[in-house]
Amino acid sequence: MNKQVKIAVLEGDGIGPEIMVEALRVLRAVGDMCLVDFECVPAPFGARAYFDHGKAFPEETKKICDQADAILKGPIGLSFEETKKIPVEEQPERGALLPLRKRYNTFANFRPVKLPAGLGAFSPLKKEVIANGIDIMMIRELVGGLYFGKKERTTNAEGLRSVTETLEYNEEQIKKIMHVAFEEAGRRKKILHNVHKANVLMSSVLWNEILEEVQKEYPDVTVEHILVDAAATALCIRPSQFDVMVMENMFGDILSDLGGGLLGSLGLMPSACIGDTISYYEPSHGSAPDIAGQNKANPYSMIGSVAMMLERSFGLKKESDRVWQSMTTVLSSGYTTVDLTAYDKTLKVVSTREFGDKVLEKLKN
Ligand code: IPM
Ligand code: MN
Repeated sequence: MNKQVKIAVLEGDGIGPEIMVEALRVLRAVGDMCLVDFECVPAPFGARAYFDHGKAFPEETKKICDQADAILKGPIGLSFEETKKIPVEEQPERGALLPLRKRYNTFANFRPVKLPAGLGAFSPLKKEVIANGIDIMMIRELVGGLYFGKKERTTNAEGLRSVTETLEYNEEQIKKIMHVAFEEAGRRKKILHNVHKANVLMSSVLWNEILEEVQKEYPDVTVEHILVDAAATALCIRPSQFDVMVMENMFGDILSDLGGGLLGSLGLMPSACIGDTISYYEPSHGSAPDIAGQNKANPYSMIGSVAMMLERSFGLKKESDRVWQSMTTVLSSGYTTVDLTAYDKTLKVVSTREFGDKVLEKLKN
């Protein structure tokens, strides 16, 4: 009998449903190849879930996720105007996404910034900067820092509206993400860039202190320390110097979007959010409501999230590599969705569905 695996599928908002369909086709094809039954259980999540069920993260969805072996999640959110129709606490980021991260303590967020040599045409960077391609693994701490610290909005003594937002970490949280980062660096080029802001933030002072303690257990990994602002510049000027980077939550949010910029589109940014027992997988980008339902969106990040799930939740490394390889081959054959055509007018533009078809074709050959 085939191995049985249960996946909670949260298709989300905007372009979510259409890119999820392509990702699930790929998942099914992989299942057929490696004799695993991926039982996909859909569940409402995000803004649509709020309008249909009154909750952005309904109880029913929580139950489905609790019982799953992994969660596959599409992008969530609506346009600025539409979002205003939802009470602040139920807006999908605060009402669904952050609670999801908290519920499964998905502390380690892997965001690959990957552009194989030969696909440089997508990137806004000059050819000579990316001659050898880009292959960075950004590791973002995902359940601490400003995102989850105490927040307070008040009126101060002078009657001015004021706000306090706290960047909180304890040593255990830092130690945990450091181990993940050192392990990953150990599996790759053995260079770990530590992104911090210890010249200003006490949180970074503690972060670096813990790093140095953990570092002793990984003598074969070289650590390079870099301030977060300098890292932004260095990523643009010479991305090839980076392999694995580790950073706190907010720094990771910003630098990983910069990573998408280096590649030419956030549509090329899948991610893995690794938790204590259940992990979830999602594109790093938003729901692009402006092109939703038009069969234009790039499904790469959603299919890439499937690839990451195969490897990190199910140990299917070979199958995962095959999915990556299929997507790369489609792109290097000159096919792309419309988001990646800014710098190369010779590329052949295909729809979301056609991109999925081509990936499946490669996968099966
Ligand atoms: C991301 C997103 C989220 C974040 C938003 C939607 C809350 O930008 O996953 O990077 O800031 O973490
Ligand atoms: Mn982000």
